[in-house]
Amino acid sequence: MRDIGFIGLGIMGRPMAERLLGAGYAVTVFNRTPQKAEPLLARGAHWADSPEAVARRSELLITMVSDSDALQDVARGPQGVLRGIRPRAIHVDMSTVAPHTVEDLERTYRERGAVFLHAPVLGNWRHAAEGTLLIFVGGDRQAYETCEPVLRTLGQKIWYFERITRATHMKLIANSFIASMILTLAQAFVFGRRVGITPTRLLEILDASALNAPMYQSKGRTMCERDFRPNFYARHMLKDVDLLLEAARCANVPLPVFGVIRELFVATTARGFGEEDYSAVLKVMEEMAGLAPEDGAS
Ligand SMILES: NC(=O)c1ccc[n+]([C@@H]2O[C@H](COP(=O)([O-])OP(=O)(O)OC[C@H]3O[C@@H](n4cnc5c(N)ncnc54)[C@H](OP(=O)(O)O)[C@@H]3O)[C@@H](O)[C@H]2O)c1
Repeated sequence: MRDIGFIGLGIMGRPMAERLLGAGYAVTVFNRTPQKAEPLLARGAHWADSPEAVARRSELLITMVSDSDALQDVARGPQGVLRGIRPRAIHVDMSTVAPHTVEDLERTYRERGAVFLHAPVLGNWRHAAEGTLLIFVGGDRQAYETCEPVLRTLGQKIWYFERITRATHMKLIANSFIASMILTLAQAFVFGRRVGITPTRLLEILDASALNAPMYQSKGRTMCERDFRPNFYARHMLKDVDLLLEAARCANVPLPVFGVIRELFVATTARGFGEEDYSAVLKVMEEMAGLAPEDGAS
């Protein structure tokens, strides 16, 4: 399987598609905003005019799009993948989307004689570029085994689940750590600064302790530099918290802390920080405490 279709060339999709090109695959790409494909075309990728056209050319196609609605558009739209999918072709979606969306698509593809797998990822664009993402794959085992070598080009570790939604749920659970950890760190920064403990000092002490996590150090550094350029959009963090709450509601599991976490990410997007990194939630915590960015920062 050397011909791969790739749809969705955003923060994550572009380095993933580049990685596949670098590994020698022939990659046909489509992106809603065509300009974003230019760097890939310059490296030898082929352009297709629609998801349908990508599907006509590919035995395996990968999508990396914003959310469930985007995935539904790409799959079921008037020029969507399902219009052009070949018999026995495999569509692997790697976006973070709703469990019911992947279940619906799995059923529809099966009815068409094709296969839909869900393979959401943990890691950022740097991991995507290095091929060190962590991948949770769910769905048909034989199809997974067929595309495993391609997934190994993108990911350092893969966990396979027979039931498609287990992979989806695993990704939502992983993101629950990201959402709560960033808020724990932002709160600690704001409180520390108010009482005269700088974020740098706090990170140094965390680093020496059992409380540390690599994420605290990497995000802590960019928060200290007030670098909120997006690795992962704040609006996507809100989307994922909503997906988590909805999935937990369906499973009859209370997630009381996430009610509060959701409100803080709603505030982050309402303040106009949705296109910034999710760590911009720090600015909301500062505002709530009446702290200016420079207060107690160094
Ligand atoms: N960034 C991260 O660190 C990270 C890590 C793990 C997982 N994820 C997940 O990976 C997915 C992609 O994230 P990202 O950071 O790469 O986001 P992004 O930069 O916003 O990219 C989103 C992609 O989806 C496309 N898209 C959106 N709506 C569409 C529609 N209706 N029809 C067709 N294409 C559409 C966009 O096309 P345009 O270019 O035309 O807008 C773009 O290519 C999300 O589900 C996210 O939660 C992200």
